Amino acid sequence: MLIDSHAHIQLENFDNDREAMLTRAQKAGVEYIIAIGFDLESSVSAISLAEQYDFVYATVGMHPHDAKLLDDGIIDKFRDLAQHPKVVALGEMGLDYYRNLSPRSIQRKAFEAQLRLAQELDIPIIVHDRETHEDIMKILRRYVGKIEKRGVLHCFSGDIKMAKEAIDLGFYISIAGPVTYPKSLSLQRVAREVPLDSLLLETDCPWLAPQFRRGKRNEPAYITAIAEKIATLRGVSVTNIADATTTNVKNLFGI
Ligand code: NI
Repeated sequence: MLIDSHAHIQLENFDNDREAMLTRAQKAGVEYIIAIGFDLESSVSAISLAEQYDFVYATVGMHPHDAKLLDDGIIDKFRDLAQHPKVVALGEMGLDYYRNLSPRSIQRKAFEAQLRLAQELDIPIIVHDRETHEDIMKILRRYVGKIEKRGVLHCFSGDIKMAKEAIDLGFYISIAGPVTYPKSLSLQRVAREVPLDSLLLETDCPWLAPQFRRGKRNEPAYITAIAEKIATLRGVSVTNIADATTTNVKNLFGI
Protein backbone atom coordinates (compact mmCIF):
# COMPACT_ATOMS: atom_id res chain seq x y z
CA MET A 1 0.00 0.00 0.00
CA LEU A 2 1.05 3.60 -0.66
CA ILE A 3 0.33 6.91 1.02
CA ASP A 4 0.09 10.21 -0.82
CA SER A 5 1.66 12.38 1.89
CA HIS A 6 0.92 15.71 0.18
CA ALA A 7 -2.18 16.29 -1.97
CA HIS A 8 -4.50 19.25 -2.46
CA ILE A 9 -7.61 17.16 -3.17
CA GLN A 10 -9.86 19.82 -1.63
CA LEU A 11 -9.20 22.17 -4.57
CA GLU A 12 -11.86 23.02 -7.13
CA ASN A 13 -9.77 21.20 -9.76
CA PHE A 14 -11.39 18.03 -8.39
CA ASP A 15 -14.95 19.31 -7.89
CA ASN A 16 -16.25 17.56 -11.00
CA ASP A 17 -14.88 14.08 -10.31
CA ARG A 18 -13.66 13.96 -6.69
CA GLU A 19 -15.46 10.71 -5.89
CA ALA A 20 -14.11 8.97 -9.02
CA MET A 21 -10.61 10.39 -8.40
CA LEU A 22 -10.61 8.96 -4.85
CA THR A 23 -11.83 5.59 -6.13
CA ARG A 24 -8.99 5.54 -8.68
CA ALA A 25 -6.54 6.25 -5.88
CA GLN A 26 -7.83 3.35 -3.78
CA LYS A 27 -7.75 1.02 -6.79
CA ALA A 28 -4.14 2.05 -7.39
CA GLY A 29 -3.28 0.93 -3.84
CA VAL A 30 -3.33 4.27 -2.03
CA GLU A 31 -4.17 3.56 1.61
CA TYR A 32 -4.26 7.14 2.90
CA ILE A 33 -4.18 10.64 1.44
CA ILE A 34 -3.00 13.68 3.41
CA ALA A 35 -4.99 16.74 2.27
CA ILE A 36 -2.72 19.74 2.72
CA GLY A 37 -3.99 23.20 3.70
CA PHE A 38 -2.19 26.25 2.35
CA ASP A 39 -4.37 29.05 3.75
CA LEU A 40 -7.31 29.27 6.14
CA GLU A 41 -10.01 28.33 3.63
CA SER A 42 -8.13 25.33 2.17
CA SER A 43 -7.26 24.13 5.67
CA VAL A 44 -10.94 24.15 6.65
CA SER A 45 -11.92 22.33 3.43
CA ALA A 46 -9.12 19.76 3.93
CA ILE A 47 -10.61 18.98 7.36
CA SER A 48 -14.10 18.63 5.97
CA LEU A 49 -12.85 16.06 3.43
CA ALA A 50 -11.09 14.23 6.26
CA GLU A 51 -14.40 14.12 8.14
CA GLN A 52 -16.09 12.70 5.07
CA TYR A 53 -13.55 9.99 4.21
CA ASP A 54 -11.83 7.61 6.64
CA PHE A 55 -8.72 7.36 4.47
CA VAL A 56 -8.17 11.14 4.26
CA TYR A 57 -6.23 13.12 6.89
CA ALA A 58 -5.68 16.89 6.91
CA THR A 59 -3.14 19.59 7.74
CA VAL A 60 -3.58 23.30 8.44
CA GLY A 61 -1.16 26.03 7.48
CA MET A 62 -0.29 29.13 5.49
CA HIS A 63 1.82 28.78 2.33
CA PRO A 64 4.63 31.35 1.91
CA HIS A 65 2.81 32.76 -1.15
CA ASP A 66 0.10 34.03 1.23
CA ALA A 67 2.39 34.78 4.17
CA LYS A 68 1.21 38.39 4.16
CA LEU A 69 -2.29 37.20 5.17
CA LEU A 70 -1.08 35.50 8.34
CA ASP A 71 -1.98 37.45 11.48
CA ASP A 72 -2.62 36.56 15.13
CA GLY A 73 -6.29 35.90 14.39
CA ILE A 74 -5.42 33.23 11.82
CA ILE A 75 -2.80 31.71 14.11
CA ASP A 76 -5.56 31.40 16.75
CA LYS A 77 -7.81 29.69 14.19
CA PHE A 78 -5.02 27.30 13.18
CA ARG A 79 -4.49 26.52 16.86
CA ASP A 80 -8.18 25.57 17.20
CA LEU A 81 -8.31 23.62 13.91
CA ALA A 82 -5.19 21.67 14.84
CA GLN A 83 -7.10 20.13 17.78
CA HIS A 84 -9.27 18.22 15.28
CA PRO A 85 -8.55 14.48 15.60
CA LYS A 86 -7.81 14.14 11.87
CA VAL A 87 -5.31 17.00 11.67
CA VAL A 88 -1.86 15.38 11.59
CA ALA A 89 0.51 18.30 10.93
CA LEU A 90 0.96 22.02 10.59
CA GLY A 91 1.74 23.35 7.09
CA GLU A 92 2.43 23.76 4.41
CA MET A 93 4.63 26.57 5.60
CA GLY A 94 8.05 27.77 4.55
CA LEU A 95 9.73 30.05 2.04
CA ASP A 96 9.44 30.63 -1.71
CA TYR A 97 11.96 33.01 -3.28
CA TYR A 98 11.10 31.79 -6.78
CA ARG A 99 7.78 33.55 -7.05
CA ASN A 100 8.13 35.97 -4.11
CA LEU A 101 4.37 36.48 -3.87
CA SER A 102 4.87 37.79 -0.35
CA PRO A 103 7.95 39.86 0.62
CA ARG A 104 10.81 37.68 1.91
CA SER A 105 10.94 39.23 5.38
CA ILE A 106 7.19 38.62 5.77
CA GLN A 107 7.62 35.02 4.59
CA ARG A 108 10.27 34.43 7.22
CA LYS A 109 8.05 35.97 9.91
CA ALA A 110 5.05 33.83 8.94
CA PHE A 111 7.22 30.70 8.81
CA GLU A 112 8.58 31.33 12.29
CA ALA A 113 5.13 32.12 13.70
CA GLN A 114 3.95 28.70 12.48
CA LEU A 115 7.09 27.00 13.80
CA ARG A 116 6.36 28.46 17.22
CA LEU A 117 2.78 27.18 16.99
CA ALA A 118 4.06 23.70 16.07
CA GLN A 119 6.36 23.86 19.06
CA GLU A 120 3.46 24.84 21.32
CA LEU A 121 1.15 22.12 19.91
CA ASP A 122 3.86 19.45 19.63
CA ILE A 123 2.82 18.58 16.08
CA PRO A 124 4.98 17.77 13.00
CA ILE A 125 5.46 20.35 10.24
CA ILE A 126 5.32 20.30 6.43
CA VAL A 127 7.91 22.58 4.89
CA HIS A 128 7.79 24.21 1.46
CA ASP A 129 11.18 25.33 0.12
CA ARG A 130 11.63 26.78 -3.35
CA GLU A 131 15.00 28.37 -4.08
CA THR A 132 15.46 29.12 -0.39
CA HIS A 133 17.64 26.19 0.68
CA GLU A 134 20.04 28.25 2.79
CA ASP A 135 17.44 30.29 4.67
CA ILE A 136 15.22 27.24 5.24
CA MET A 137 18.06 25.28 6.80
CA LYS A 138 19.17 28.26 8.88
CA ILE A 139 15.68 28.69 10.35
CA LEU A 140 15.06 24.95 10.86
CA ARG A 141 18.37 24.62 12.70
CA ARG A 142 17.16 27.22 15.19
CA TYR A 143 14.08 25.11 16.01
CA VAL A 144 15.81 21.77 16.37
CA GLY A 145 15.35 20.59 19.93
CA LYS A 146 12.26 22.77 20.20
CA ILE A 147 10.12 20.86 17.71
CA GLU A 148 10.22 17.28 18.94
CA LYS A 149 8.06 15.81 16.21
CA ARG A 150 10.03 17.48 13.39
CA GLY A 151 8.42 16.96 9.97
CA VAL A 152 9.08 16.73 6.27
CA LEU A 153 10.69 18.79 3.53
CA HIS A 154 7.97 18.42 0.92
CA CYS A 155 8.60 18.25 -2.84
CA PHE A 156 12.30 18.16 -2.07
CA SER A 157 14.40 20.12 -4.56
CA GLY A 158 17.78 20.35 -2.84
CA ASP A 159 20.83 18.19 -3.47
CA ILE A 160 21.96 15.07 -1.60
CA LYS A 161 24.12 17.14 0.75
CA MET A 162 21.14 19.20 1.87
CA ALA A 163 19.01 16.04 2.15
CA LYS A 164 21.55 14.52 4.53
CA GLU A 165 21.70 17.71 6.61
CA ALA A 166 17.90 17.79 6.88
CA ILE A 167 17.82 14.11 7.88
CA ASP A 168 20.44 14.81 10.55
CA LEU A 169 18.09 17.46 11.94
CA GLY A 170 15.36 14.78 12.12
CA PHE A 171 13.39 15.61 8.97
CA TYR A 172 11.99 13.31 6.31
CA ILE A 173 12.57 13.94 2.60
CA SER A 174 9.47 13.79 0.40
CA ILE A 175 9.82 13.16 -3.32
CA ALA A 176 7.22 14.20 -5.89
CA GLY A 177 6.61 13.81 -9.64
CA PRO A 178 9.67 15.76 -10.89
CA VAL A 179 11.82 12.68 -10.05
CA THR A 180 10.27 11.08 -13.16
CA TYR A 181 11.40 13.91 -15.47
CA PRO A 182 14.41 12.92 -17.59
CA LYS A 183 16.42 16.02 -16.68
CA SER A 184 15.93 15.77 -12.88
CA LEU A 185 19.36 14.20 -12.35
CA SER A 186 20.12 15.81 -9.00
CA LEU A 187 16.72 14.77 -7.59
CA GLN A 188 17.18 11.26 -8.97
CA ARG A 189 20.45 11.05 -7.12
CA VAL A 190 18.66 12.08 -3.90
CA ALA A 191 15.98 9.42 -4.57
CA ARG A 192 18.71 6.81 -5.05
CA GLU A 193 20.86 7.69 -2.03
CA VAL A 194 18.52 8.94 0.68
CA PRO A 195 18.13 6.33 3.48
CA LEU A 196 14.88 4.44 2.97
CA ASP A 197 13.74 5.18 6.51
CA SER A 198 13.77 8.92 5.74
CA LEU A 199 11.85 8.83 2.46
CA LEU A 200 8.23 9.85 1.82
CA LEU A 201 6.27 9.98 -1.44
CA GLU A 202 3.76 12.62 -2.55
CA THR A 203 1.95 13.84 -5.64
CA ASP A 204 1.44 17.54 -4.67
CA CYS A 205 -1.61 17.21 -6.93
CA PRO A 206 -3.19 18.87 -8.86
CA TRP A 207 0.31 20.09 -9.77
CA LEU A 208 3.52 18.33 -10.81
CA ALA A 209 2.09 15.34 -12.68
CA PRO A 210 4.67 12.62 -13.38
CA GLN A 211 6.25 12.34 -16.82
CA PHE A 212 3.45 10.23 -18.39
CA ARG A 213 0.91 12.96 -17.60
CA ARG A 214 3.27 15.92 -17.49
CA GLY A 215 1.53 19.28 -17.85
CA LYS A 216 -1.88 17.75 -17.11
CA ARG A 217 -3.82 17.57 -13.86
CA ASN A 218 -2.15 15.33 -11.31
CA GLU A 219 -4.01 13.09 -8.83
CA PRO A 220 -3.16 10.67 -5.97
CA ALA A 221 -3.44 7.51 -8.15
CA TYR A 222 -0.32 8.66 -10.03
CA ILE A 223 1.81 8.17 -6.92
CA THR A 224 2.49 4.69 -8.34
CA ALA A 225 4.59 6.26 -11.12
CA ILE A 226 6.78 7.94 -8.50
CA ALA A 227 7.17 4.73 -6.49
CA GLU A 228 8.05 2.79 -9.67
CA LYS A 229 10.66 5.36 -10.72
CA ILE A 230 12.35 5.32 -7.30
CA ALA A 231 12.27 1.51 -7.21
CA THR A 232 14.01 1.43 -10.61
CA LEU A 233 16.59 4.02 -9.51
CA ARG A 234 17.41 2.00 -6.40
CA GLY A 235 17.17 -1.44 -8.02
CA VAL A 236 14.59 -2.68 -5.53
CA SER A 237 10.95 -3.77 -5.81
CA VAL A 238 8.04 -1.31 -5.81
CA THR A 239 6.67 -3.17 -2.79
CA ASN A 240 9.89 -2.42 -0.95
CA ILE A 241 9.51 1.33 -1.62
CA ALA A 242 5.78 1.29 -0.89
CA ASP A 243 6.16 -0.56 2.44
CA ALA A 244 9.00 1.63 3.69
CA THR A 245 7.44 4.97 2.75
CA THR A 246 4.04 3.96 4.13
CA THR A 247 5.62 3.01 7.46
CA ASN A 248 7.46 6.36 7.50
CA VAL A 249 4.29 8.41 6.97
CA LYS A 250 2.51 6.46 9.70
CA ASN A 251 5.41 7.04 12.10
CA LEU A 252 5.68 10.75 11.31
CA PHE A 253 1.98 11.57 11.48
CA GLY A 254 0.93 8.98 14.06
CA ILE A 255 -1.68 7.41 11.78
NI1 NI B 1 1.64 21.67 -1.87
